This record gives sequence, C-alpha cells and structure tokens, in this order.
Amino acid sequence: MIPYGRQTIDDKDIRAVVQVLRSDWLTQGPKVLEFEEALCRYTGAKYAVVVSSGTAALHIACLAAGLGKGQEAMVPANTFVATANAVLYTGAQPVFADIDHETGNIDPRAIMKMMNRTTRAIIPVHFGGNPCAMEDIYGLAKKRKITIIEDACHALGAAYKSGGKWWKIGSCRHSDMTIFSFHPLKAITTAEGGAVLTNDKRLYQRFLKLRSHGVTKEPSDFENRNAHDVGPWYYEMQELGFNFRITDLQCALGVSQLKKADGFVRKRTRIAQLYRKAWAHGSYFDLPSQQNNGVSAWHLFPIRLKGRFVQRRKEMFCWLRDLGLGVQVHYIPVYWQPYYARLGYAKGSCPVAEDFYRREISLPLYPAMTSADVRRVIECVNKAGAEVLK
Ligand SMILES: Cc1ncc(COP(=O)(O)O)c(C=O)c1O
Repeated sequence: MIPYGRQTIDDKDIRAVVQVLRSDWLTQGPKVLEFEEALCRYTGAKYAVVVSSGTAALHIACLAAGLGKGQEAMVPANTFVATANAVLYTGAQPVFADIDHETGNIDPRAIMKMMNRTTRAIIPVHFGGNPCAMEDIYGLAKKRKITIIEDACHALGAAYKSGGKWWKIGSCRHSDMTIFSFHPLKAITTAEGGAVLTNDKRLYQRFLKLRSHGVTKEPSDFENRNAHDVGPWYYEMQELGFNFRITDLQCALGVSQLKKADGFVRKRTRIAQLYRKAWAHGSYFDLPSQQNNGVSAWHLFPIRLKGRFVQRRKEMFCWLRDLGLGVQVHYIPVYWQPYYARLGYAKGSCPVAEDFYRREISLPLYPAMTSADVRRVIECVNKAGAEVLK
C-alpha cells in the first residue's frame, strides 16, 4: 500500500535521538530551547514554544487569545476536529465559516458575513499546505480587534507574498499566533508534538506558563507571600495550566528534521508537479489550485471529482484502495460529527465545504515517494477512472 503520507527518518535523525538518550536530560533540557530557536530562525517569528501536540498548541493559543464562555471563534468547516475542539476547551463557541471551493481554505467573504460583536478570534487553516488569503483576513479582523490564530498544521515550509516580500507561514506577519503539528504525517515530525509561534512577548510568556501547570519561577507581587518563602527553590503557580511539555528526545528529532524541511517541501512540490503534468489535459477530477501569491507546502494533493463521478466517490475511493493506494478524504465537515450535532450544529450551514467533502480524495504525497511510486499512483488513478466508467 502506498500511504497518503508518511514520515521520512534517516540515520542522522536516529543518531540525534540516541544522543539525547545517553545525556542527562530526557525532558526539559537544552533540546527544547534549541528546537524553539530553530523554528524562529526558520519562520522569522520572534518567539516559539514547543508543546506535546498541535492540539495542545491550539488549546493554549485559544486561551491566550482570551477565548472563554460567551465568546465565539470562527473556524473553517473543512478542517480536522482539533481546530474547533480547541475553541470548545476554553468554553467558547466555534462558528463554522464556509470555504473557497478551489482551495478548500476559509473564505474571507464568509468571515465578513458572519463576524459579529462576540467574535473574538479567527482560526484560518492552511488546507493541504496552501496558504490562506492572510492579507484579506488580517484586514477584516484587525479593524475589529479580533485575534488571528493560524492553524498551520499542514503548512510548515509554505509562504506567501505580501507588500513585495515573501513571508514564511509561521512568521505571524498577518496574525497574532501560528500553530504547527509535528505528527508523522506532517512536514516534519517529532512523533507527537506541536508549536505555537508569535511576535508578542506577553503571549510568549503566557504560553510558557500554560505549557507547564501555570507555574513560573518569577515571583509576582502576590500580597500573601512571606518574604522568607522566596529563595532559589521558589516557584509559583499563577494560573491553571497543563502538562503540555514535549521531551528532549522529541526536540532532538525536531531539530534534525527541521534542517531538512526545505528539501522535503521541494520533493513534495516535485511530486505535485508530476501529478499536474500527468493530468494537465483534463481528467475526471479537478486538480488542487494554488492561492495567488502563495507557495504551498504540499501536505496533501486533494483532487475533486467532477460531474457524474461525484455520485460514485465511494466506489472510486474503494477502487483506489483495492489497487493499493492509501487514499484518504479531507475533511468531513466538522459540524457533521455526532458530538457537534448534539451541540445543535445543523447540516447545510456551509454548502461549499459540504460539496468539497463529497468530491474530495487525497492522493499519496510524501517526500520519500519514488518515481515508481508516483507512476503507480498515476496509473491506478487512471485505471480507477476507467473501471468506474465501464
Ligand atoms: C488542521 C489540523 N489542525 C490540528 C491538528 C492537530 O494536530 P495534532 O495531531 O498534532 O494534535 C491536525 C492534525 O492532524 C490538523 O490536521
């Protein structure tokens, strides 16, 4: 089976992890800061805090945005459940915005239509690695002092042009915070892991506290504290935080992987180009389209079935699986999930995302794919089309 995505681990990665195993620090050691500094250099952000998963990163980002009961955060319907769940963790309510039918990204027109006085945050997701229209979203949100959290779980290595300059996703040029996931299917991996990046020192300090139980070594001006209690051992819990820490073992892998991130994106881009070339003269599906002025990280290669093939998506999908392709579908609109239905979200609210879901199939795409793998995917996709037409 050729999966739709997988990690690429080499001997250097393995050596980096083994070195930590032989060291004094398995967690909370020097590799954590080293990975954070490397992420800042890579993206151009001032601050990074690495955590145990992309979901943990979203969770603390939502808390730092001040989300809570009585507030709303706008998220695209076409995303993994974690994006919306993080809003629920804070007590706030996710509001699902419809997407652009070409890119699968949140549609700024939908944001404009749905924004209201209780909208506290917008969480654009760079679907498949393709950057959202960040300038437009920033323009809409900043006038109303709405916080923007980029869910860039698919988009490490992507970039977009604005004001004559290229900005890496993660630079937070048009947002307050950006979060990444380092799950094995993502651009680089730490097995499980995530990060939240910002240019705002206060947000950074908040992330540090939330990552580790709300505890800091810096004494606040807490009035009931006895001066004798403050010494080199001192620590203070200032708010209810979590254990969202990531280990040094994982961060060593992250540092080693990040050195190869651009190479991984180049390989992904090359495979995407081969797919595009293979179906340049048309097929039974639409090819993924790029946002203007954007460079995708090509996390996914999402095709969208056309015409009568739409009704036969399940059959197509099963054919492809039977032929040995580990295809997947991204995504079932989040509010269709039984949990969200029980919360009162109804089908039909984001028709473009629903149509996108019905037509979408993600083809295999990952850096370690060989030319033979790519040829096989192209052959199988063509064969499945012919079988369904019979
Ligand atoms: C868009 C999106 N957001 C958030 C997440 C959650 O990341 P993690 O699995 O690292 O918690 C994922 C993971 O698949 C994702 O695809």
